[in-house]
Amino acid sequence: MSKAKTLYVCQQCGAQALRWEGRCSRCGAWNALVEELVEPVINGDGAPAEVVTPSVLAEVPTDETARVRTGVGEFDRVLGGGMVPGSVILVGGEPGIGKSTLLLSVAGALAAAGETVLYVSGEESLRQTKLRAMRLGLSASTIQVLAHTQLEAIVEAIRRLKPQTVIVDSIQVIETGALHSAPGSIGQVRACAHALVRLAKESRSALFLVGHVTKEGFLAGPKVLEHLVDTVLYFEGEPTSGFRVLRSTKNRFGATYELGVFHMTTEGLEEVSNPSELFLSDRTDPAPGCMVTVSLEGSRPLLVEIQALTSPAGMGLPRRRTTGVDVNRLSALLAVLERRVGLRQLAQQDVFVSSLGGVRVLEPAADLGIVLAIASSLKEHPTERGDLAIGEVGLTGEIRPVANLLQRLHEAKRVGFHRCFVAAQRDHRRDVEGMQVIEARHVRDVVAQALA
Ligand SMILES: Nc1ncnc2c1ncn2[C@@H]1O[C@H](COP(=O)(O)OP(=O)(O)OP(=O)(O)O)[C@@H](O)[C@H]1O
Ligand SMILES: [Mg+2]
Repeated sequence: MSKAKTLYVCQQCGAQALRWEGRCSRCGAWNALVEELVEPVINGDGAPAEVVTPSVLAEVPTDETARVRTGVGEFDRVLGGGMVPGSVILVGGEPGIGKSTLLLSVAGALAAAGETVLYVSGEESLRQTKLRAMRLGLSASTIQVLAHTQLEAIVEAIRRLKPQTVIVDSIQVIETGALHSAPGSIGQVRACAHALVRLAKESRSALFLVGHVTKEGFLAGPKVLEHLVDTVLYFEGEPTSGFRVLRSTKNRFGATYELGVFHMTTEGLEEVSNPSELFLSDRTDPAPGCMVTVSLEGSRPLLVEIQALTSPAGMGLPRRRTTGVDVNRLSALLAVLERRVGLRQLAQQDVFVSSLGGVRVLEPAADLGIVLAIASSLKEHPTERGDLAIGEVGLTGEIRPVANLLQRLHEAKRVGFHRCFVAAQRDHRRDVEGMQVIEARHVRDVVAQALA
């Protein structure tokens, strides 16, 4: 059988070329050719294919999914209760956010529980890794460490050691000798990830791949990496704030959008197991431009303060800037305030909106809080102490109900809030003792009532 060879494959139409070309000769796409290892076609000459037999679903053994707890509670929570042997987990995050710190802590916790862990550090020397381990209090740990970037050598090390857990930090620096392109290129990342994933499935070890995120927020290297793995975790936070949030955006073994919260200290990452008050300011008097909402992240309600600032725009287009909030969502909500509530002066205002601590608030349930924060800033009028708002805002200005309202209200009550604006909703329980729930159908009514 002939061996696999490298070819340049167009990512648009699949055409193959022997040499790199700037433009695909078949479909004309620019910059679409990527070097790949191409297996020769087997049985293409009409030889009989291998006989494969399907299994009866009911008879497929299921003991395989027994989970292993890593010992880092918040990490286990995001994974859906621990890691599954043989599963592959991609951990993405911006440079310097703390990916290596997180995974070395996980490695330390696993090693302390008697697991064999191999930590492949492609970016840092053994000495650097040791220094970090000392800082994290893991200097006496039994973690096996390898500082190498050559795929073939790493695969050999994994075959010999047979570790229960392998951590590769990061996949972008690993290279295979089979390809000529530079490490970090799409072809290299895909080929290396593919080989490691196959090995993990064969050897039933859990594999963690660290991946860098580009400025645009995508995992550098291709989206295809996300497709190859079982679970995708993002580690994020404002570099200036000590809080870090780990969230899963894909999980073949558990719920997604579960959230883990950590605090970065000089001794490493501390788990924050009760984060609901973390993203609130400790101001006692209400200030204009602030409103609290409850975002339900996974199974955990999180109270988040939204802060808005409006200020007359100078020359040119007014600016719209956000931290933690989607800027396109902000544009839509501003249009609703202008057209449906009649706050036309917003068109000439710079608008800045941020969530406290920079935590990402992606749920539409935060809309009403964002809208109220902007209106409050524009009118220079604070809402009452203890107010919060939960609801999705439609383009006509109607307020739509959100899921799990009662759970959110209970959490807000527990933290000390006592008046909440929500959507009018029939046949729905929302009685929480000590919490005044004000129902409204339209944003106009809420703005009028909250900023009266
Ligand atoms: N000696 C130190 N003392 C205190 N904090 C430190 C020290 N070294 C690093 N840190 C903290 O750890 C963070 C870097 O963590 P880490 O190296 O785990 O990030 P990373 O996401 O792996 O980065 P990279 O993308 O460069 O691999 C720094 O931003 C800093 O806050
Ligand atoms: Mg790192």
